[in-house]
Amino acid sequence: MLSQEDINTLQQLTLEDGLQFISSKFSEGVVFSTSLGQEDQVITDAVFKNNLPIKIFTLDTGRLFYEHYDLLSKNNSRYKKTTEVYFPESADVEKFVTEKGINAFYHSVENRKECCFIRKVKPLNRALENAKIWITGLRAEQSENRENMPILEWDEDRNLYKYNPLINWTYQDVLDYLKLNNVQELSLHKKGFISVGCQPCTRAIEEGENPRAGRWWWENSQKECGLHSH
Ligand code: ADX
Ligand code: SF4
Repeated sequence: MLSQEDINTLQQLTLEDGLQFISSKFSEGVVFSTSLGQEDQVITDAVFKNNLPIKIFTLDTGRLFYEHYDLLSKNNSRYKKTTEVYFPESADVEKFVTEKGINAFYHSVENRKECCFIRKVKPLNRALENAKIWITGLRAEQSENRENMPILEWDEDRNLYKYNPLINWTYQDVLDYLKLNNVQELSLHKKGFISVGCQPCTRAIEEGENPRAGRWWWENSQKECGLHSH
């Protein structure tokens, strides 16, 4: 268990020291989920470079961009470490696609959420099965839903701690880290994609638009896929 004192300590630490601190508190079950976006490349770099005992995994929805696979492969070569890949249950995908259509997520919010549930949330729950603490790349600036998230919280539903080390970072902080450490990133970022999810559900954004405006752009919904909703 982490104490309030541990949480206070965590708030004062740099990213690398925070990750070290967490790793020293748990002998196993420390996991980090990467979407291969810029924030997650920062954390991946810090974990792999420092040889921390943290499992890194990604959720391959089956609808990602080619660029995701390219970066995944480059990460493995650069750090000589493995990122575990979780896939959806084939029976779930087959049923959904057969009954509702290959691009059914465009037809209703309900369909879209079902697709996210099958392709992301269920595999995430599987990846987190024996985890004690789940690290994410969430930042408060990203959306209203995220602006009050703490650096460390107890996730009642999943029965684990959730650690968001970049929660108070600005986008500029992320860019500075990537540049300073010469970290590889998705080539899509140079083409106007900031927040990147699945290929059919992400578009590039225009200057001045909210960074998440390109996610499920045809919807007026909350723009969350269920991974981080309460
Ligand atoms: S989402 O909920 O809108 O899809 P977002 O792309 O902002 O999430 O990413 C926020 C955090 O969720 C990431 O830092 C990462 O920890 C986790 N995440 C999102 N997508 C994936 C994915 N495909 N695989 C693993 N983790 C993911
Ligand atoms: Fe399906 Fe789109 Fe959600 Fe990806 S983002 S899981 S394709 S609805």
